[in-house]
Amino acid sequence: MQFFLDTANVDEIRTMVSTGLVDGVTTNPSLIAQSGRDLVQTIKEICALTNGPVSAEVTATDVKGMVAEGEYLRDIADNVCVKVPLTWEGLEATHRLSEQGHPVNVTLCFSANQALLAAKAGAVYISPFIGRLDDTGANGMELIGEIRTIYDNYPELDTQILAASIRHVLHVKESAMMGADVATIPAKVLKALAQHPLTDKGLAAFMADWKSTGQSILS
Ligand code: G3P
Repeated sequence: MQFFLDTANVDEIRTMVSTGLVDGVTTNPSLIAQSGRDLVQTIKEICALTNGPVSAEVTATDVKGMVAEGEYLRDIADNVCVKVPLTWEGLEATHRLSEQGHPVNVTLCFSANQALLAAKAGAVYISPFIGRLDDTGANGMELIGEIRTIYDNYPELDTQILAASIRHVLHVKESAMMGADVATIPAKVLKALAQHPLTDKGLAAFMADWKSTGQSILS
């Protein structure tokens, strides 16, 4: 399973990439707004920090505009992946960009039928929004399972499931168990995956016992 970092914060990305645990980055217009920085400059800096795909989202809503913006974003760096919303127009833009060889991440997916359409349009990634579905009282994880089943029924559909809108560690574990190919994760959730109170307790005991020996490994 691949882990992408879901942020437009360049400093955060730099720190997290150095762990070797980050396979790519996803951004969206809200995350760019949160960063308070210029979109193109930010994407350029992020692309220099990772060899993995960096999703940059179009903001036009018509086919021609989305294709033009997608082509422009792709010129920023080789590892830009164009993010397109799952609208009727977005599906046609996905088809056109894919035909030109541009990788597309179709975002704002909330149903299995939408995911089926995105795969047929040629998307490299489909982004089902788990947390936002949970917010409405639906079960976001069921959607990941449905998409997995459908894609597995049709091996010619090679779109990868990118679990998005991940809010907590359980979302990551369940996405992995459901067979999502990728999870895009906020930095604080990614760090929380490593935490366990028994690890902390065990380490404290090891350190105390080690200190009592008076030894040092390097001297
Ligand atoms: O990748 C999309 C994701 O950032 C949306 O997350 O928490 O705003 O629903 P959220």
